[in-house]
Amino acid sequence: TRHLLGIKDISPEDIQLIFETADNFKEVLNRPIKKVPSLRDITIANIFFENSTRTRLSFELAEKRLSADVVNFSSSTSSVKKGETLIDTVNNILSMKVDMVVMRHSSPGAPHFLARNITANIVNAGDGTHEHPTQALLDAFSIREKLGDVAGKKIAIIGDILHSRVALSNIFCLQKLGAEVMVCGPTTLIPKHTVSLGVKVEHDVEKALQWCDVANVLRIQLERQQIKYFPSLREYSLYFGINKKMLDRLDKEIVIMHPGPINRGVELNSDVADSEHSIILQQVENGVAVRMAVLYLLAGVK
Ligand code: CP
Repeated sequence: TRHLLGIKDISPEDIQLIFETADNFKEVLNRPIKKVPSLRDITIANIFFENSTRTRLSFELAEKRLSADVVNFSSSTSSVKKGETLIDTVNNILSMKVDMVVMRHSSPGAPHFLARNITANIVNAGDGTHEHPTQALLDAFSIREKLGDVAGKKIAIIGDILHSRVALSNIFCLQKLGAEVMVCGPTTLIPKHTVSLGVKVEHDVEKALQWCDVANVLRIQLERQQIKYFPSLREYSLYFGINKKMLDRLDKEIVIMHPGPINRGVELNSDVADSEHSIILQQVENGVAVRMAVLYLLAGVK
């Protein structure tokens, strides 16, 4: 495929190839000279219509480590504010001889729409509540690194499943790699169709923690909520927030993940986020190698 639009579209073999390529790039990133010439003839535009810290910087660093030329576009400071359409915006950027587009957009399906209308390779850096494929890849890569394999592991995704593109991409990715997946959260934040994806559903966070090898904890996305759902942040934190006392009650090892940004004291207390159980910053570190692998593999496909 010329694009990475979602994990739904790629095979377990594609994911393994991305991981093996990322292993090589991770080794490169640990060398004193962290750069390779692989994409020196390629120009990449990072087009962000939604806020981002990790994903935008991680893609930019991945591109620079691969020696690509990079331009960054943020909708808030662009002519989108004057009414320019998505297709016009991207076609104007592509006229400047850009080869690949990394795009984040608030509308589910925006990169798929773009893929039908432009010629460049596209990487989805998050489309609304739909998919965030490179986040799922770096999450699964981090589980593989920490536990040796993803197959056979039990992963609980805990939090706002309804509004989360990270949850959907993680479910697809972890299942393709042979993991068992559970989602956990209040009924109002778990969509009814989740069961049809073949995941377990749990509403008791302590039971979810007891079941899983890895807890991937997600943020409550107030900015996406059209109406005010139960629970409030205070209620969520009271009933679903994960703290050290809960982990101390478990009679086993557990790995804690979070894609960021963390709402400290809501879904995760600092005594867990900053503990030895957490691999949150390793996820961010691995994101650069995984994105290098994705860009490198796509650049070879025209
Ligand atoms: N994990 C993630 O997508 O973070 P940003 O929104 O900061 O990119």
